[in-house]
Amino acid sequence: MRLSERLSCVLAAAAALATACARAQQAPPWTEDCKKSTYPPSGPTYRGLLPWYTINLDLPPYKRWQEVTTVLSPGLRTIVQNVKDVVNAFSPTGRIMKMVDERLPSMLGNLPWPFEEELKGIADVSGIPLGEILSFNIFYELFTMCTSIIAEDKKGHLFHSRNMDFGIFLGWNINNNTWTVTENLKSISVNLDFQKNNQTVFKATSFAGYVGSLTGMKPGIFSLTLNERFTLNGGYLGILEWFLGRRDDTWIGFLMRSVLENATSYEDAKNMLIKTKILAPAYFILGGNKSGQGCVITRDRKSIADFYELKPKEGRWFVVETNYDRWKAPFFLDDRRNPTITCLNQTTQENISKTTSYDILSTKPILNKLTVYTTLMDVPGNVYEVYLRDCPDPCIGW
Ligand SMILES: *[C@@H]1O[C@H](CO)[C@@H](O)[C@H](O)[C@H]1NC(C)=O
Ligand SMILES: *[C@@H]1O[C@H](CO)[C@@H](O)[C@H](O)[C@H]1NC(C)=O
Ligand SMILES: *[C@@H]1O[C@H](CO)[C@@H](O)[C@H](O)[C@H]1NC(C)=O
Ligand SMILES: *[C@@H]1O[C@H](CO)[C@@H](O)[C@H](O)[C@H]1NC(C)=O
Ligand SMILES: *[C@@H]1O[C@H](CO)[C@@H](O)[C@H](O)[C@H]1NC(C)=O
Ligand SMILES: *[C@@H]1O[C@H](CO)[C@@H](O)[C@H](O)[C@H]1NC(C)=O
Repeated sequence: MRLSERLSCVLAAAAALATACARAQQAPPWTEDCKKSTYPPSGPTYRGLLPWYTINLDLPPYKRWQEVTTVLSPGLRTIVQNVKDVVNAFSPTGRIMKMVDERLPSMLGNLPWPFEEELKGIADVSGIPLGEILSFNIFYELFTMCTSIIAEDKKGHLFHSRNMDFGIFLGWNINNNTWTVTENLKSISVNLDFQKNNQTVFKATSFAGYVGSLTGMKPGIFSLTLNERFTLNGGYLGILEWFLGRRDDTWIGFLMRSVLENATSYEDAKNMLIKTKILAPAYFILGGNKSGQGCVITRDRKSIADFYELKPKEGRWFVVETNYDRWKAPFFLDDRRNPTITCLNQTTQENISKTTSYDILSTKPILNKLTVYTTLMDVPGNVYEVYLRDCPDPCIGW
């Protein structure tokens, strides 16, 4: 149990630190007027585009990530070091990192195909120890804060958009009021084109070194995003069980990737997302290619907690998910849900589009200091656009 006790100690202490550091910023709750005419992206909230890489699924898993890892391993090394610094700050003897390096690789034996081989390939090409690459992959199961929206216009055309917010608790840079990990993630953010037979199977936005998926689209078929769900019986427990030897549940990021790679329809994807036992609670936001095909699946680890789908005929033309159960009030210091709904209401169903979705996701605090990128997906129109974001002051810390 020692590793687990220490991990939760690290997390608790980091949370306290983060709260203290973020206090200097614009105090929550604080909401900006809904933005207008922000698209095409420009100005200080737009950092740039992401590079595209092809992941060839016809290659053996060990070789698939060679190119992206080679190009981006310096950035990956920086992030792994950021995380080690946080861990070592709470365990100055370096015992946790020693355990990560020595013990984690031997636990790999039970990761499903093709993930284990892919991770080994990334470790070898980057020269970063396998245990550290594995813990880098575990991180995304724990710290992903997000806003996801699926909305349909009067013609039944669907738009799925999201802000990826990541890096809370992992170090605050007092020089320019940014989260260290959030900033460093921007330089290893990539768009991936997963191909078989030289044809796109799905597109995804990811971080170099990570083999799961958090955001993706299967052209013509569905779009999918993952939002973290924090509950008492949460991810920490599942991950603990995994460390203690219970390996039958699926990592959420790996399930997302399997669905994107192998599900053949909206219904098929929905089934996989509802039925697979997972390691941590989660919200899956799934959009299809026609009117009414958009839902938020609220998952406990073993079963479904709630299913909420578009009902355009009854006036439910959008679904929104941040990081709170829809039937509960959001944490009062982190209400991104009501601002999102307010802006959707103001936009109206007549005017919802890729462009107005970007406006909504550019409105603070929906856009905040943790926001790494904004993704705009339009399955029927075959549009997949991703923009790196910044949130200059005044801006809320999360
Ligand atoms: C803030 O400073 C860090 C470290 O110097 C840098 O990596 C990052 O790009 C800066 N971010 C902004 C928005 O200026
Ligand atoms: C994919 O395209 C490349 C170059 O265009 C070609 O050499 C290769 O044989 C193709 N592979 C498959 C599986 O079709
Ligand atoms: C939408 O999905 C249905 C069934 O899954 C398929 O028949 C149809 O061709 C798809 N539409 C487009 C635009 O791909
Ligand atoms: C998708 O299915 C194929 C064939 O069953 C399997 O080999 C592959 O590992 C699956 N991909 C993922 C990411 O689970
Ligand atoms: C949005 O509009 C709906 C329908 O008119 C209304 O019930 C809801 O209270 C509004 N929500 C916000 C946050 O403005
Ligand atoms: C919808 O867009 C049209 C055209 O840009 C504009 O004239 C109208 O005011 C917009 N409606 C709302 C409710 O913003």
